[in-house]
Amino acid sequence: MSEGLGLLVRLFGFLLVTVFAGHSALADTHPTLEAADIELGEYLSSGCTSCHLISGEQSNIPSIVGWELEGFIYVLEAYRSGELENEVMQNIALSLDDEEILSLAAYFFTVGRDQETE
Ligand code: HEC
Repeated sequence: MSEGLGLLVRLFGFLLVTVFAGHSALADTHPTLEAADIELGEYLSSGCTSCHLISGEQSNIPSIVGWELEGFIYVLEAYRSGELENEVMQNIALSLDDEEILSLAAYFFTVGRDQETE
């Protein structure tokens, strides 16, 4: 319980640092950064959930629901740089900018938390 809370605080701090460091314009236009990011992530997620099940179930394709932000961002950057070799994911990652990856990370993380508390 308290461990989960600590994680959330840590991730939220990470989110703020990242957003303020790189995208201060975003902070100016949206009253709550967290909500804005997650909304963008939800919008973008339709490009992922045709393959990755939103239920978090694992098929032939791995689940991407409930990942820590750091891990999610790391993996997408690795596909983008070509370090991880999967042509489909490389093309998808190349079409995303940093802000979009962050938003997707925030959205899929949140979806995972919602399901855990159901
Ligand atoms: C056309 C199907 C397809 C779409 C669309 C797709 N993915 Fe993937 N994704 C895959 C497959 C297949 C893998 C496993 C690749 C591998 O084994 O290296 C994967 C792997 C991943 C992984 C690493 C999972 C792991 O456990 O290693 C992440 C994170 C990920 N995708 C995120 C996304 C995001 C975010 C989107 C939307 C922007 C997306 N994917 C859209 C097919 C897809």
